[in-house]
Amino acid sequence: MLHSMKLFITFALIGITTFHINAQEKIEKKILIAYFSWSGNTREMAKQIQQQTGGDLFEIKTMKPYPSDYNECVDVAKKEQQANARPPLAAEVKDMATYDVVFIGHPKWCGTMPQPLFTFLEKYDLNGKTVIQFCTYGAMYSAGGWGDSEEDLKKLCPNATILEGLAIKGSTVKDSKDDVVKWLQKIGSFL
Ligand SMILES: Cc1cc2nc3c(=O)[nH]c(=O)nc-3n(C[C@H](O)[C@H](O)[C@H](O)COP(=O)(O)O)c2cc1C
Repeated sequence: MLHSMKLFITFALIGITTFHINAQEKIEKKILIAYFSWSGNTREMAKQIQQQTGGDLFEIKTMKPYPSDYNECVDVAKKEQQANARPPLAAEVKDMATYDVVFIGHPKWCGTMPQPLFTFLEKYDLNGKTVIQFCTYGAMYSAGGWGDSEEDLKKLCPNATILEGLAIKGSTVKDSKDDVVKWLQKIGSFL
């Protein structure tokens, strides 16, 4: 099973035929797409990445779910951030060591990654792996895009190779498949 999950990422798979590299060239990489999503936008983006790369999806969930009410959730998230909390996670990636490439996805919360991402990134050794961040945002509390999350990721994965990520406004994720494909094509030559 594990063997069958070992992926042959061909550039044809993500539509790259003439990009940087001979189309015949194959790269064997095992890809994980780990994401946290409260209201579904980042999950949708993760699925788009999965469809293009064939990687394994893993949802980062907390032992204690966040409130379903938006304002209550913001209150909890702010308190966790102020406390620099590490909320315990509900499930583990059992074979992280076998992955070469790890996509890390999250909504922007209070200007950076939700605290469960800090738990996740401190829990696993991503040294030597290629790490690629993706995020969705609402641009409600601070300027759109990454906020501090790119810097926070670099601090948490100092010895990983970090490739260019993609941040998409949450309300447009369903219509952004072309942007996801173009981004994967752009970074595909570095995988
Ligand atoms: C607790 C909380 C905090 C948020 N903080 C921000 C923020 O600082 N900046 C921002 O642009 N959007 C913020 N948002 C909006 C989300 O980033 C945006 O709606 C995102 O697409 C949600 O992704 P999800 O559906 O995967 O949870 C926040 C949303 C929540 C629930």
